[in-house]
Amino acid sequence: MPKILVIGSINMDMVARIDHIPKQGESVIGEGYSFNPGGKGANAAVAARRLGGEIVFAGCVGDDDYGKALRKVLTDEGIDDSCLQVTQEAPSGYAPILVQKDGQNGIVVFPGANMCIKEEDIPSMFVNGVDAVMMQLEIPKNVVLAASREAEKRGIPVVLDAGPAQAFPVEDVKSLLVLSPNETETEALTGMPVETIEQTRAAAQVLLERSHAKFVVIKMGARGAYLLGGGYDEMVPAFKVQAVDPTAAGDTFTGAMTLEYLRSGDMKKAVVYGCGAGALAATKMGAQPSLPTRAEVEQFLAERSK
Ligand code: RIB
Repeated sequence: MPKILVIGSINMDMVARIDHIPKQGESVIGEGYSFNPGGKGANAAVAARRLGGEIVFAGCVGDDDYGKALRKVLTDEGIDDSCLQVTQEAPSGYAPILVQKDGQNGIVVFPGANMCIKEEDIPSMFVNGVDAVMMQLEIPKNVVLAASREAEKRGIPVVLDAGPAQAFPVEDVKSLLVLSPNETETEALTGMPVETIEQTRAAAQVLLERSHAKFVVIKMGARGAYLLGGGYDEMVPAFKVQAVDPTAAGDTFTGAMTLEYLRSGDMKKAVVYGCGAGALAATKMGAQPSLPTRAEVEQFLAERSK
């Protein structure tokens, strides 16, 4: 079973169902809400775990009830929480998420404790036998870069999901196997539009050259994913589903793609697997409650290949 070290964010999400996201000055009566575990790092970790990976999660929560609840979710999933730190300096990460009736969402992230991970703690997070390090950009940038240097020293490949959207020096990430932004993140990294397939390909090419990643995989939601590198240069189409909430679909994609690449060594297969897992995550509300199991993804892919 591949072992993945996820160094990333962990949040308590408040997911509210509403008719539409309020305009400036407008009040909208909500239809319901729930508190669910989330955070881009923890979502990708739980996704890869449910799909059969062995996962070590490294991150930081506050010394509060959300932090305790979030740790319990990880351990209940069978994820190694020995590198999850607790800080007195900030509360646990919190993310109110508004989901419209038509399935569009809007997220506000209060990073809190996620920003308290320290560069000097990185070496101790590299437990034995790690096959890949998976990160996102909801933790301090210097931590992501330091972790990539540590991974390089140990010969471990890095997968970077470039969310949320921001300028980031991808050229400084070491040992980069896969760089995977979504469309907005690609625009933030390159300043290039990604509306057409040709534009997306051009942006992927810039990212591939700038980052020295082996693969660039641009997540394009309901359109699929653009795969460039290692001899691939193609759009991998999405699976059509009845989407109710896209929250964590991208995190699921990255977790699933990373795990499947480690299992098969075949990046096209891994991207298709990521598309399947991400599509299933979009069919349910919330972040971690929506993440599919290995059996669900395999059944879905088998049905869609008939
Ligand atoms: O990608 C979805 C995630 O973004 C949510 O779970 C929220 O916590 C934010 O980190």
